[in-house]
Amino acid sequence: MKELILLVLVAAQYSITHAQSDSCGDQRFDVIALVDGSASIDQADFQKVRNSLEMFPASLGLNGTDRRFGVAVFSSNVEVPIPLSSNVTALMSDIASLQQPRGFTNTALGLTRVIEEFENFGIPENKQFIIVITDGKSARKTATLAAALRAKNMSISVFAVGVGNGVDELELAGIASDSSQVIKADDFDQLTPKIVGVIAMVCNDPDVVTDDGPCFGCILRNGIGYLPTRDCDKFLQCQLSLAFTVKQCPFGTHWDQSALTCNYIGKVNCRNDVCTAPTPPATYKTNGNCSQYYQCVNGLSHTRTCPEGQSYNDVLGYCIPNSDCKPEPPVPKACHMTAILNEPCFYNWNVYGLVYKMPCPGGTAYDQSVCACSTSVFTSCTPGEQFNLIK
Ligand SMILES: *[C@@H]1O[C@H](CO)[C@@H](O)[C@H](O)[C@H]1NC(C)=O
Ligand SMILES: *[C@@H]1O[C@H](CO)[C@@H](O)[C@H](O)[C@H]1NC(C)=O
Ligand SMILES: *[C@@H]1O[C@H](CO)[C@@H](O)[C@H](O)[C@H]1NC(C)=O
Ligand SMILES: *[C@@H]1O[C@H](CO)[C@@H](O)[C@H](O)[C@H]1NC(C)=O
Repeated sequence: MKELILLVLVAAQYSITHAQSDSCGDQRFDVIALVDGSASIDQADFQKVRNSLEMFPASLGLNGTDRRFGVAVFSSNVEVPIPLSSNVTALMSDIASLQQPRGFTNTALGLTRVIEEFENFGIPENKQFIIVITDGKSARKTATLAAALRAKNMSISVFAVGVGNGVDELELAGIASDSSQVIKADDFDQLTPKIVGVIAMVCNDPDVVTDDGPCFGCILRNGIGYLPTRDCDKFLQCQLSLAFTVKQCPFGTHWDQSALTCNYIGKVNCRNDVCTAPTPPATYKTNGNCSQYYQCVNGLSHTRTCPEGQSYNDVLGYCIPNSDCKPEPPVPKACHMTAILNEPCFYNWNVYGLVYKMPCPGGTAYDQSVCACSTSVFTSCTPGEQFNLIK
């Protein structure tokens, strides 16, 4: 069998559109989202609340006891249906099945309960955050402000996220630890980008961009996420602040969203392959060196290389003599990935000074000699939970 090497993200192409950030680095913290489940929020909007909550486990780089996330829901009463945890899989599924009690807005009770949760299950080394998400004013404003004061006195950092125009701005300001931690969203569609901004602040990321650019809706893991683009051979790398970079896959590969890697053409079902057009060109050029081009065969792009001393001319559609197109000596490849001892199914990926632990696609394992996940290494790796997080 021909050996298959999956080319994992050619490292030479790195460039980042925004100033680099510390992201969540090695900080220790616990975050509890305190969510309004009152009757004024309809079912469709509560689903948007669930979607925005997914950003927390997907982006905070939860690990062990160093970083945890939980959810409390308040209405007439308060519950902590999702206690502090760092199990991303469990958190994601618990968020998806989060119930909405649909009573009135007892914010005071909610805050008091979350403070208690921190008193009982907090860890002294971990900074504590409460993210209050509400669409209205609380039923007992004095009690709410008193509870918020207690949180401040315990050095809990409180964010107040108000959605829509039914919120009481003075109350939000009283709940939040600082005026910069009062966040307003026009409607529930705006909630996810606002939450991304909150996460960036929790992570102490100064590079806060919350506009709904092309990365909007991209689920990040450890601050990084990927999306396909219209071009089969390119992909978007998104980071915590929703800043993005367009990246080019190596010649002969297309972006494979299910494996989160550039994979051989033919292994990836890309609907926009130039050769699947109703009247495809015989040959075409994409980014790459002067002698490389693609030929359409049976609706699929095939890699072709011109003979030495020639280059592909994309006006004529064939190779012509060109003494400028000389094969250059191969540039030594910088490898931005390193193996992890005793964990062959993962590798550490070094991105602008931060190290992310990334999974290899199922059936492959990391091979430092080729700086890639490869089938040439014996492995029993199966696709990890990580792959399910990217939507
Ligand atoms: C969590 O991640 C941080 C930063 O990478 C690391 O320093 C720490 O040891 C990790 N903790 C656990 C319990 O894995
Ligand atoms: C995380 O949660 C999932 C689903 O609830 C469970 O199957 C898995 O064993 C948990 N992982 C850890 C490390 O506890
Ligand atoms: C704040 O905490 C201090 C102890 O750290 C305590 O003496 C004080 O009574 C508290 N104030 C409020 C309003 O809870
Ligand atoms: C261009 O591609 C050919 C064939 O893949 C290779 O031999 C040559 O070294 C490449 N040239 C450059 C400048 O990368």
